[in-house]
Amino acid sequence: MSALFDPFTLKGVTLRNRIAVPPMCQYMAVEGLINEWHRVHLAGLARGGAGLVITEATAVSPEGRITPGCAGIWNDTLAQAFAPVVASIKAAGAVPGIQIAHAGRKASANRPWEGDDHLAAGDPRGWPTIAPSAIAFGANLPKVPRAMTLADIARVREDFVAAARRALEVGYEWLELHFAHGYLGQSFFSTHSNRRDDAYGGNFENRCRFLLETLAAVRQVWPEHLPLTARFGVIEYDGRDEETLADAIELARGFKAEGLDLLSVSVGFSTPTANIPWAPAFLAPIAQRVRLEAGLPVASAWGIDTPELAEGVVRDGHLDLVMVGRAHLADPHWPYYAARTLGIDRPAWVLPAPYAHWLERYRVN
Ligand SMILES: Cc1cc2nc3c(=O)[nH]c(=O)nc-3n(C[C@H](O)[C@H](O)[C@H](O)COP(=O)(O)O)c2cc1C
Repeated sequence: MSALFDPFTLKGVTLRNRIAVPPMCQYMAVEGLINEWHRVHLAGLARGGAGLVITEATAVSPEGRITPGCAGIWNDTLAQAFAPVVASIKAAGAVPGIQIAHAGRKASANRPWEGDDHLAAGDPRGWPTIAPSAIAFGANLPKVPRAMTLADIARVREDFVAAARRALEVGYEWLELHFAHGYLGQSFFSTHSNRRDDAYGGNFENRCRFLLETLAAVRQVWPEHLPLTARFGVIEYDGRDEETLADAIELARGFKAEGLDLLSVSVGFSTPTANIPWAPAFLAPIAQRVRLEAGLPVASAWGIDTPELAEGVVRDGHLDLVMVGRAHLADPHWPYYAARTLGIDRPAWVLPAPYAHWLERYRVN
């Protein structure tokens, strides 16, 4: 029996296995509007056999996009474009998820293959950025954001709520709040980016406030029977890791109290000087610590790209769900490949009947 191909039930949703496609920006939208590329990309990944396919970071407001090519869900027209994506993912047997996001001080950037840096001052495609404090990320992202007013904070919280409502209306069954990777949510938590002296900065409780309030507000509109999750960077690799991790686990307990169903454990990416110990599955033991100490189901990514590694992190209790990102771009049928590698002889576990039937009978290798 394979742990990786064991179904996973969270609230009223059952995934056919423990493999998830994490959100991966395509930078192919125009004014936030997604198109046929997103549909082909996401439907293809769903057909490949993953249990869960999460749509890329989708901005809750125009200013919340990372780049001009990022997807958005800040009005009903943009939201409706996701309906065929959702239908296609479901038709391929996967559960459709979406990550809703605000990029904060990392917004207004070039696409990765066009520089991966902030759009130059005066570039008509750029826009002013906002963040907890007027502190730039630095390095390739030097633009200084405007410190958010209390009215800005309330507005962004409501933008997340409206985005969640629209995601539900177009049929998404799994919601992920993007509180990771140095974007807006993470930057409220991190002392690298938050130097406020009001109720949203300073001590631990204040630095958690924006995240907990946003989660609680979204929980009001996101149904109880559907998973509400978040992605959060629990560690920065900035030399203060024990303290950050302990705080992050305390925040994860707070998330749970506000109704979070699963945490996708990631890295903070709040400072360009972090020293990240890249290695296969390096984050899995840290995710397990969050799982055990916060009492929340967890998912994680980063270098879990072989079937054996993926099977191991589930079997050994590190993760409930494995996020397989770049390996899915290289092979959209990665779950099917994993099933065969692990010796699972009935691809119907992974693939829909028209594929599974013929592949079982006419195996060529
Ligand atoms: C092209 C690309 C786009 C990404 N976009 C997002 C995103 O929208 N939201 C997010 O939380 N992470 C994003 N990530 C990070 C992935 O979700 C994932 O964590 C990362 O690729 C590590 O997993 P892997 O080693 O399996 O690829 C992106 C990664 C890639 C390669």
